[in-house]
Amino acid sequence: MLKMTHLSKAFRTEVVETYALRDFSIHVREGEFVAVTGPSGSGKTTFLNIAGLLETPTGGTYELDGQDVGALGDDARSHIRNQKIGFIFQAFNLIPDLNIYDNVDVPLRYRKMSSAERKKRITEALERVGLSARMRHYPAELSGGQQQRVAIARALAGSPKLLLADEPTGNLDTQMARAVMQLLEDIHRDGATIVMVTHDPELAARAQRNVHVIDGQVVDLGEDPKLHMNVSRISA
Ligand SMILES: Nc1ncnc2c1ncn2[C@@H]1O[C@H](COP(=O)(O)OP(=O)(O)OP(=O)(O)O)[C@@H](O)[C@H]1O
Ligand SMILES: [Mg+2]
Repeated sequence: MLKMTHLSKAFRTEVVETYALRDFSIHVREGEFVAVTGPSGSGKTTFLNIAGLLETPTGGTYELDGQDVGALGDDARSHIRNQKIGFIFQAFNLIPDLNIYDNVDVPLRYRKMSSAERKKRITEALERVGLSARMRHYPAELSGGQQQRVAIARALAGSPKLLLADEPTGNLDTQMARAVMQLLEDIHRDGATIVMVTHDPELAARAQRNVHVIDGQVVDLGEDPKLHMNVSRISA
């Protein structure tokens, strides 16, 4: 589904060049649920942004769903993003001036879809996250957990093959974090491939596979708990 090989991402300013990712290789298979952990500044968000075609790498190759997406222009990238990818951010990123229904509608408006089809998708997605009754409310009128569920509904409405989540539970208390995780597990069971960045070891342990990022490189932990411990010690 997602295959990066020797990928690099350098941020250049006049004085310094920082490598956010360096020789970064990862292969996420279709239908996997992968948790990405790693210290602050190690490159996790940069990886997700490139995976979601929001940023371009400075080197290496990226294949998404069997297609080399490295050399595509902006329009082609937006199109693929809109068709195949759903994003969930730590800060929810809802539009404050739009009600819940219209927030979920935002990515659908860029698709060639009848308004009836859009309505069906929005209603179903909001039902799924348990917020049908809140459609006409505005984000500020909802709790953090509810806002994150709207963000999940927005990602779901497009039926993405690949769901990218950057600390989706980072702003939530434990109970809400578990509820959001449960929702992601349901979505995964229905066939989506999920890559989730998290600082929470309890949530990471619930994913099928853990990938650790240190200094812009991947350390794949697989399911080997011994390696898990060693890496925790290195990065501590
Ligand atoms: N737009 C940018 N310009 C310059 N440097 C950047 C930019 N974005 C990220 N970086 C640098 O790239 C590195 C990786 O950043 P990134 O946001 O991917 O880390 P992260 O693992 O997501 O950290 P956190 O856990 O704190 O969110 C950091 O050193 C950061 O300063
Ligand atoms: Mg980050």
